[in-house]
Amino acid sequence: MFAGLDFGTSNCSIGIIQHGQPTLVPLEDGKTRLPSCLFIEKESSESVILAEAEIAARMLILKTRQTATGHALSDEGLMTIARKQLRKEYRENTAHSKRAQSIVEALRANSDVIFGEEAELSHVAEPENGFYIKSPKSFLGADITAAQKVVFAGIVEKMLAFIKQEAQYLKQIEIEQVVIGRPVNFHGLLGRDGNKQALDIIGTAALKVGYKQVEFLMEPVAAAYDYERQLTEDKLVLILDLGGGTTDCSMIQIGPSFVNQQDRQSGILSHTGQRIGGIDLDNKLALMALMPHFGKNAMLSNGLPVPNNLFRQAVSVNDVSAQQEFNARRTGKELDDYCKITTDPRLSRLKALRDGKFGLRVSRSAEQAKILLSEQTPIALPLHYIEPDFDIRISREQLSDAIADELRKFEVLMTEAIKQAGALPDALYVTGGTAMSPVIQQWIHRVFPDIQIIIGDHFGSVTSGLTTHAQRLFGR
Ligand SMILES: Nc1ncnc2c1ncn2[C@@H]1O[C@H](COP(=O)(O)OP(=O)(O)OP(=O)(O)O)[C@@H](O)[C@H]1O
Ligand SMILES: [Mg+2]
Repeated sequence: MFAGLDFGTSNCSIGIIQHGQPTLVPLEDGKTRLPSCLFIEKESSESVILAEAEIAARMLILKTRQTATGHALSDEGLMTIARKQLRKEYRENTAHSKRAQSIVEALRANSDVIFGEEAELSHVAEPENGFYIKSPKSFLGADITAAQKVVFAGIVEKMLAFIKQEAQYLKQIEIEQVVIGRPVNFHGLLGRDGNKQALDIIGTAALKVGYKQVEFLMEPVAAAYDYERQLTEDKLVLILDLGGGTTDCSMIQIGPSFVNQQDRQSGILSHTGQRIGGIDLDNKLALMALMPHFGKNAMLSNGLPVPNNLFRQAVSVNDVSAQQEFNARRTGKELDDYCKITTDPRLSRLKALRDGKFGLRVSRSAEQAKILLSEQTPIALPLHYIEPDFDIRISREQLSDAIADELRKFEVLMTEAIKQAGALPDALYVTGGTAMSPVIQQWIHRVFPDIQIIIGDHFGSVTSGLTTHAQRLFGR
């Protein structure tokens, strides 16, 4: 059997063909989107192998409870919950052997790993009990050391193994071939070498976890193949995939006359992509709308403002060197000194952020604000982990102002793709979670007032397209 796998910066999903259609597999509690994060426990215990009978018995209990509460989960959803509960209980009841001191040790000791939303919850509930990694994909193209590369390779392997095993278990199939999505350019500073490094890490990990054949496909091309399934006439489309870590464009010819072509390369007219996405919008919103409440622009008694760099580092959670700099001892000392020579009480919140290692949580709060702003405006964002009753009011206009630079970069990517293709598109197909924001959608309509704009399936298009392509490659 074959599958399409979107190893996204923010979310992962896997699809297979069912009843002739690409169908996403519910990986976590019935949801097809698995947040791309994991929590590697410091305590290692024996790996948990669950017996079928044990799972069936637990499912029966859950089913009875579910009837009593009026909720209705599918058998697959129930099975996931049952397995999760049993694994957790098993872990709790097993005598722990050793506590890993570093992520390398934890990986080597084969410590238990928790994925997705459960990982996020574990990290918030018991941060000291494990190592939390969010968006590993965004580090794969970066200038990382050989040692860091080994760690990320181990992490990617864990993630890919989990997705493969879950999908196989839930669908009771063996998946041997896979088409994995890749951005036009990976997040990172190494350019072409970064792309090679990232593809090497993912490709090697995929083979290691048991896939026998692995192919890559550009993510925007996958989105195009998904859109193509509903077309009755040929079109030249500009695909815009606004993801969590990367933004990709492709100009591609799709439609009934192209769908059965073995080699589609000549129909793909151009690609452009940059390592900016939803995470960068979160960082910007955090910097522009949250950091002023943490002392950004506060004046010191020497007549100078607190250096802006400090706030930029605090919120740049996907920038390894910014994080190292922010967590360095001398930065702590510097911040302490600033706190002493200002009467502005807001700066103490930056100290609380640094001391409590709340950088990731603030970034998560900024993301939450961005998502809430897609529903309503203004919003009150609670930051009670920094200070009791600390709420920040944020409006959609603030988001729009904060991300103006990023919107300009997205526009350059689109116009560059059109220019390289040498033709205007018949339609613009937009996908990716970031495109859910009304701020983004209004901006797209402003930039392209005369082109048909189709807002596709934000989270499923790429995976469905990858699965469709996998069927072409492996399904005969
Ligand atoms: N309602 C919403 N409004 C705005 N942004 C949203 C909303 N829901 C999710 N997002 C954002 O969508 C992004 C994730 O999108 P998506 O799942 O398409 O990314 P990905 O495929 O994992 O990333 P990439 O393609 O860059 O590897 C995140 O930055 C998330 O904050
Ligand atoms: Mg994506």
